[in-house]
Amino acid sequence: MNIVLLGAPGSGKGTQAAMISGRYGTPHISTGDILRQAVTDGTSLGLKAKGYMDRGELVPDEIIIGVVEECLREEDCERGFILDGFPRTVAQAESLEESLKEMGGSLDVVLNIEVEDEEIIRRLTGRRICGKCGRIFHLLFDPPRDEGVCEVCGGDLYQRADDTEETVRRRLEVYKEQTAPLIDFYKRKGLLRNVRGEKSAADVFEHVQETLEGIRG
Ligand code: AP5
Repeated sequence: MNIVLLGAPGSGKGTQAAMISGRYGTPHISTGDILRQAVTDGTSLGLKAKGYMDRGELVPDEIIIGVVEECLREEDCERGFILDGFPRTVAQAESLEESLKEMGGSLDVVLNIEVEDEEIIRRLTGRRICGKCGRIFHLLFDPPRDEGVCEVCGGDLYQRADDTEETVRRRLEVYKEQTAPLIDFYKRKGLLRNVRGEKSAADVFEHVQETLEGIRG
């Protein structure tokens, strides 16, 4: 299936994408992860993106669109993909539609994960990520067994630079201005399915699974 995960920062897109990918074997494409890796590697993409990311703003459409197109052309996406963090503007959504059309495909569903702002701030300021395998933890909701250490691979946990309260509030503003219009965009196309994101990650996944099974028929 070709799936887009929509939702504010911290709504649980990465968490649910990992669960869907684990269940169905569908490749997970996270534009945030791709950009953070580029920043760590010091590539020209990373150098262009870093300032925007640190400020909690979107990197320009012309930078990110080409990156995603390249991923979608990879062989492992032939039988489906989960896009997490893309599209984030109407221009990105239109270009995605165009690229998929050229490749003879289209989206099957857009899952919109809904979570209140205050819960988002709690989630993001408490998020910790494994630097080695990428497993996402939360200091209160999903803490690692040993502080600062990933229980899956033993890697060190880190906090994202844009997970401070000030930057999270800016990211929420940017989401409302530039990304929330996609809810109507996809509703008009009949692709949108809303998912309440405030229950536990396992309960949210149950709803996600029911929705996906309903679409697969
Ligand atoms: P990106 O990495 O995509 O960040 P984001 O959209 O802000 O989303 P997050 O990764 O912060 O949150 P999430 O929804 O994945 O939540 P998670 O599952 O981790 O983008 C970062 C930056 O890159 C952007 O600001 C921008 O600069 C740039 N960028 C990326 N894509 C771009 C694009 N297309 N165009 C332009 N710029 C782009 O969960 C969060 C926390 O909550 C975790 O600790 C988790 O354990 C916990 N949690 C998850 N689910 C639950 C639950 N149900 N209950 C309790 N806790 C939960």
